[in-house]
Amino acid sequence: MILFKKILLLISSIITLHTYAQQAAISILDSGRITSIRGLSVVDDNVVWASGSNGTIARSTDGGRNFEWSTAAGFEERDFRDIEAFDSNTALIMAVAEPAIILKTKDGGKTWKKVFEDTTKGMFLDAMDFTDKNKMGIVAGDPINNKPFLAVTRDSGESWKKMEEGTVNETFEKGEAFFAASGTNINLIEKDRGNEVHIFLVSGGMRSKFYYDNNADSLPIIQGKESQGANSIDVNPETKEAVITGGDFTNDTSKTNNCVLIKYLGSAKISYSFPQSPPNGYRSCVIYVNTDKLITCGTNGVDISNDGGRNWKFISTQSFHVCQKAKKGNKVFLAGANGKIGILSLNF
Ligand SMILES: *[C@@H]1O[C@H](CO)[C@@H](O)[C@H](O)[C@H]1NC(C)=O
Ligand SMILES: *[C@@H]1O[C@H](CO)[C@@H](O)[C@H](O)[C@H]1NC(C)=O
Repeated sequence: MILFKKILLLISSIITLHTYAQQAAISILDSGRITSIRGLSVVDDNVVWASGSNGTIARSTDGGRNFEWSTAAGFEERDFRDIEAFDSNTALIMAVAEPAIILKTKDGGKTWKKVFEDTTKGMFLDAMDFTDKNKMGIVAGDPINNKPFLAVTRDSGESWKKMEEGTVNETFEKGEAFFAASGTNINLIEKDRGNEVHIFLVSGGMRSKFYYDNNADSLPIIQGKESQGANSIDVNPETKEAVITGGDFTNDTSKTNNCVLIKYLGSAKISYSFPQSPPNGYRSCVIYVNTDKLITCGTNGVDISNDGGRNWKFISTQSFHVCQKAKKGNKVFLAGANGKIGILSLNF
């Protein structure tokens, strides 16, 4: 009888494990385009925008069943590494390298207007983030004369102003910069009152650091080579936790120090820990789906966590650069090389 019960238990746990694995699956919605997508912005469960190299933009208004593909006229050569969409008509795209530009559309991507340009030699924009109300946003760029470039908008990207205070006063170390891997190494969290924000930023390369408002800290993530360091940060303001992923993009199967968990209880009380079981390789993007559930992706696959990032399960060998959850909604989309766009089935 006891043996029988044990067998039953074993069978039921096998079934649970099996359905668990089955439930977290990724379906490919579109692929086979000459663009590498690193920008992804999901407005709600219907409206999805993506941006990539060769001036390419994709937009869906039916939850990803159909994507309209287009190129920004006059900018067909540019690599739009980040996108922020506000609704089905309005979005901003950010191009890497020189000259630094940000374009805005208000007609669903038919026309794009230049809202920011900086022709300074060495300009290289990496990522943008916006507050939930979409009005305030910050764009981060690689350091020039050892100082990171940050510019702020307070009118949904219509106008931008170079920031003169805060993190911009930090002197970056030699070989320290931002990755433009998924548009997620900057994260803004609205303060409880007023129109101000907390700024979270992660750098990588020869040095990988965590910037929280005016504080700079070394990160216990792999670093010391141009290809190594933190690529992505997501913040959960309710638990005051953050998760950072990265690794070495030239050694994408290595799990060595590729993920760091942060607890921030005020700027002077920041603690760092590693997951018990880390993601299965280099990870260019990480997001909270909710307080417990997270997803992370990279060139060698996708992992999920059900316990706030402490343990990761490898669920797919599909390569993706970026993943994003609907800002107002539940769906999670992923995108990567060759115009590949996927959707996660959420029951994990
Ligand atoms: C961009 O377009 C050029 C010319 O059509 C093509 O050769 C190249 O492979 C494309 N690159 C990517 C990654 O989009
Ligand atoms: C790749 O990662 C593995 C495991 O962390 C490490 O042993 C190896 O030295 C790395 N290779 C290179 C070329 O960095």
